[in-house]
Amino acid sequence: MSEQAPTLTVAPVAPGEATAGRKVFVKTYGCQMNVYDSDRMTDTLARDGYQTTDVLEEADLVLLNTCHIREKAAEKVYSELGRLRDMKKARAKDGRALTIGVTGCVAQAEGAEILRRAPAVDLVVGPQTYHRLPAMLKRAKSGERVVETEYAIEDKFEHLPAPDRARTRARGVTAFLTVQEGCDKFCTFCVVPYTRGAEVSRPVAQIVAEAERLVAAGVREITLLGQNVNAWHGAGPDGGEWGLGNLLRRLSQIEGLARLRYTTSHPRDMDESLIAAHRDLPKLMPYLHLPVQTGSDRILKAMNRRHTAAEYIALIERIRAVQPDLAISGDFIVGFPGETDEDFEDTLRLVETVGYAQAFSFKYSIRPGTPGAQMDGHVAEAVKAERLERLQDLLFRQQRAFAAGCIGRGIDLLLEKPGRMPGQLVGRSPWLQPVNIDAKGSEIGDIIRVRITDAGPNSLFAEATGA
Ligand code: SAH
Ligand code: SF4
Ligand code: F3S
Repeated sequence: MSEQAPTLTVAPVAPGEATAGRKVFVKTYGCQMNVYDSDRMTDTLARDGYQTTDVLEEADLVLLNTCHIREKAAEKVYSELGRLRDMKKARAKDGRALTIGVTGCVAQAEGAEILRRAPAVDLVVGPQTYHRLPAMLKRAKSGERVVETEYAIEDKFEHLPAPDRARTRARGVTAFLTVQEGCDKFCTFCVVPYTRGAEVSRPVAQIVAEAERLVAAGVREITLLGQNVNAWHGAGPDGGEWGLGNLLRRLSQIEGLARLRYTTSHPRDMDESLIAAHRDLPKLMPYLHLPVQTGSDRILKAMNRRHTAAEYIALIERIRAVQPDLAISGDFIVGFPGETDEDFEDTLRLVETVGYAQAFSFKYSIRPGTPGAQMDGHVAEAVKAERLERLQDLLFRQQRAFAAGCIGRGIDLLLEKPGRMPGQLVGRSPWLQPVNIDAKGSEIGDIIRVRITDAGPNSLFAEATGA
């Protein structure tokens, strides 16, 4: 991966020029891809002399890396911008500048509209142009209000700096790695195809190089990311066309890398090779996030998910046949336009049939510009709220049952961070549950053998068993 400063469309700023000692504060909303992007942005800015700070008051530059998926997520940004406007005003009195940038999916969706609604904002940067941040900042400094929401022709990944060793180490023993971006599926409720653009896969060599750098910096577990991660495809070094299964096979050869995960998958893109990877690769964790949204065929059709409930259940059976220990997680939307009580009962039935270890569920939120917004039969808020409560009740019971089923089991635990109590460490089970343990003799980054002794509502407890 290129270590050069971006030179394609902009004049590079000499490292440190006029920015030494400056600090950037990034607030990240939304999905893991935004978490990954925030880190890539601070890496880019670090090359330009910016230090990252966790203290808002210290910052010269604040970036809100935003999410547009539901109305609430998007509106949060404007209330935060109100607070930042006040901070900018107060600073101006002391003669100290504050630069405010909006990045991410709200930036892409609303563009210049953000400048109109929030005059304190200096720059608006869509997710495909992060590599141009230093140049944009330079323009903002000279008083221009900058909006860049074009889909760049150049591959931003070629121009974003690879994660730096020291910074990676500071971020911990697990890391995200975006392998695919964008979406061509156009589910009728969803903004992602509009905010992240068409599906693009990163090339194998670029991904392997980034994974190797992460592992060399101490990362033990990598989660491959994509809005549709299992739609990832690329030319393999063997000359063949590779899907995610082969990519996982290649990555699991990296020495020192202990665990692989991937998210988020679409049921239509679970191919045989990926299913077989769950059988063949000990490093691939037995956890699969496979959103279904609804159990009603009628609603699945209206959502343009392009599969039926029975096909989804059959798919899960096929994966469980090769990996019986698999934990399934999912996403659900209640109250999509036209959803009747009967449709909702179908969702509950599907949940009963599948048995989820974890799940995320949401009330349908109208997103401007999506086909769902134009549909008839919008469901009343109170009905959505009641359905959500019933669904979450069931999902939570399943999560507790899954956790209770872990008690007594021996598992490998990757220790990730200090626990709440002194002397405690918290790790993750293969099924992504947080597990608390007495740290004695172990360190963050170790993978230790433990026995699960108890299960709380959101985490497990374990004791080390050695060997
Ligand atoms: N690519 C993934 C989902 C990405 S968005 C997939 O196809 O499954 C993450 C989740 O947000 C979705 O699975 C869905 O459950 C939820 N979501 C998306 N748009 C929404 C909307 N308009 N209202 C409510 N929830 C929504
Ligand atoms: Fe959105 Fe559907 Fe694409 Fe997932 S597959 S990102 S839900 S359009
Ligand atoms: Fe949100 Fe964009 Fe992710 S809309 S969920 S931040 S892809």
